[in-house]
Amino acid sequence: MKLTVIGLGYLGATHAVAMAELGHEVIGIEPDKTRLEKLAGGELPFHEPNLDKALIRVIKQGNISFKQSHDEQSKDAVAHFLCVGTPQLDSSNAADTSYLFSAIEALAPYMSPDSVVIGKSTVPVGTAAELKSKLSKLSGFDAHLAWNPEFLREGTALEDSLRPDRIVLGVEDEHSEKILREIYEPIVSSENTPVLVMDIPTSELVKVAANSFLATKISFINAMAEISEASGGDVVKLAEAIGMDERIGKQFLRSGIGFGGGCLPKDIRGFMARADQLGVGSAVEFLEDMDSINLRRRQRIVDLARHEFGSLDDKKILVMGAAFKPDSDDLRDSPAVDVARKLKLHGAKVVVHDPMALDRLGIVAPELESNEDLIEASKDAELVVLATEWKDYKQLDPNQLLVKNKTVIDGRNVLDVGLWQQAGWKLIALGRNVHN
Ligand code: UDX
Repeated sequence: MKLTVIGLGYLGATHAVAMAELGHEVIGIEPDKTRLEKLAGGELPFHEPNLDKALIRVIKQGNISFKQSHDEQSKDAVAHFLCVGTPQLDSSNAADTSYLFSAIEALAPYMSPDSVVIGKSTVPVGTAAELKSKLSKLSGFDAHLAWNPEFLREGTALEDSLRPDRIVLGVEDEHSEKILREIYEPIVSSENTPVLVMDIPTSELVKVAANSFLATKISFINAMAEISEASGGDVVKLAEAIGMDERIGKQFLRSGIGFGGGCLPKDIRGFMARADQLGVGSAVEFLEDMDSINLRRRQRIVDLARHEFGSLDDKKILVMGAAFKPDSDDLRDSPAVDVARKLKLHGAKVVVHDPMALDRLGIVAPELESNEDLIEASKDAELVVLATEWKDYKQLDPNQLLVKNKTVIDGRNVLDVGLWQQAGWKLIALGRNVHN
């Protein structure tokens, strides 16, 4: 089937490649020329395991083409996926949906009455209805619009797209449902994936509700870390014990410096803002606390460092990790970058290492010194902070580091405590008393 995918960021690029892998004929639309040229040349503008190879594969197969804007070819497409970003507004907690409305304006002249516009971006509930009314006005016919939220995680984006836990279809008419079912048929038939059909507002809510739940789970365990710190408990053992209760589940109970990235933080804030507009702000007021717990964990690293040294003035600190999670070079709202900045503001001489994200770091946080050689970066450091749980750090032999003082703060609770302690290190963990 011929499809357009509008907006080729993390979500759109992954979705476009996934659709092409399923055998559809995909036209990717991306206004940013640099990003577009990279993709057309078979290069991803970001790091994402396996997606790089899949991109080259679908280009070779001729299943995908890239354009800066729509042309006559878009008129033959049976569906148009909206995958543009909905970042947090600078002025408030709310999501900026303006890119969606611009995308609709650009698309309207190229839409046929039988084609379906399918929203995938994360939106405040009610956005789809506004988009539909605008689209119908612009196109002059009753446009088909559906919502089909995406749950992919960075680091496993292609796998999540091709083998999702479920496919959510927010539809208002049979034609849209039929087209969506045809598009996803290869996945459903090979993976037996559950397809959940619902009204559009519910489908818009599914995504923000899922992300709010995940953020709450992480903040819950980090709140337990705070309690453990005050009471001498061990949050890692606590998480293991409660996670074995199937009703709770062990996923998303990893304590540490908390969640970041382009989704969880902005989605819980956007949800609060939308609920306020709907007059039901108190229903999700608790998310304000989840946000605060999350941000407090970042500050906790600074407090622990200051507790250790008194003043951080001129102390060399190695921060291991910049990306918001491993296997990604995404720095959006990264707890690691926030921690590095905070330590620097307290006078420390911070050096950041990351296996993948240092080029980006130079752009988004040029004030931070970085070094791509971990061992060299560790030279004369008086404190090491693990901020992103890359495999390289988990498997690191602590004897290799050339530090002046062997103290490490494990901001993700992933280091082998015995190994580091045997190598003569003082290991400080979040929410754990590791008895140095
Ligand atoms: C998230 C959702 O998981 C995904 O379904 C949605 O489509 C987009 O948002 P992503 O942002 O890629 O995906 O990362 P995720 O794996 O959810 O991690 C988010 C943040 O939470 C990271 O900073 C991660 O380090 C942190 N995290 C995750 C924890 O601190 N503890 C955990 O137990 C899990």
